Amino acid sequence: MRIKAHNSGFIGKNTVIFDSLPSTNDYLKEELAKSKPFPEGTVIMAVHQFSGKGQRGASWYSEKGLNLTFSILLCPVFLKPQEQFYLTAAISLGILAGLEEVIGVGKAIQVKWPNDIYVNDRKIAGVLIQNSIRGEQLKHSVVGIGLNVNQMQFETGDYKDSGVTGAPTSLQLLTGKEYGLESVLQLICTHIEYYYLKLKFGERAGLIKEYTDHLYRYGIKANYKINGTSAQGVILGVDLQGKLLIEVLGKVMGLGIKEVSFE
Ligand code: BTN
Repeated sequence: MRIKAHNSGFIGKNTVIFDSLPSTNDYLKEELAKSKPFPEGTVIMAVHQFSGKGQRGASWYSEKGLNLTFSILLCPVFLKPQEQFYLTAAISLGILAGLEEVIGVGKAIQVKWPNDIYVNDRKIAGVLIQNSIRGEQLKHSVVGIGLNVNQMQFETGDYKDSGVTGAPTSLQLLTGKEYGLESVLQLICTHIEYYYLKLKFGERAGLIKEYTDHLYRYGIKANYKINGTSAQGVILGVDLQGKLLIEVLGKVMGLGIKEVSFE
């Protein structure tokens, strides 16, 4: 284990790097359960995460030493449980902005609802946010991010359950360059902090607008599975609870994560 102190903002100022961990999210949650007083913005990173957790019970595979697998501790006590989606939007936008700085603006860097990060139609990063609630407030958020950085090959078995339609991509696959993991980490943390502070200081409507502007398949007719039935629909945006708004046969539906999947 290595502890790095960055002198930038508060996210990543305290970064703990493990050679190997089952899951950075699980580690952070276990430490929080022991009431370990980590400061807000602490980052736990694993060079080799060997039992990574994805959304909807899926696994997150990442080749040892090639990608970023890390979790950020946030304390968004200014959000009510029913406002969690604002955090999802802020984190997604921070990752998008970080990626834009690394790979430039010529590529389609988008968020596939709710928080998969896509570049040119391929998944490059996944986010797993696990919140703990105290009364009417969010107490802690463990924001887990897996970002493909230098991995050049992806095995079908490793991503088939993770909701991606084709093979994932990575920074190196997109640009042909090799990246230092810690410098990409710092950059992503800086951009996440920018959007997190925007959220904290009340710019909620602006965040949702910016999130919608970057939505994958926004305004495009495409195929979805809605409550078990295949249908053509057009994404129109999200509502304030984070439900996906899709127009199907002239009717706008607000759908939750269990009700819709992309085909
Ligand atoms: C998904 O797309 O399904 C979400 C993947 C989230 C993976 C990250 S890697 C770091 C953190 N620790 C975990 O166990 N999962 C998240």
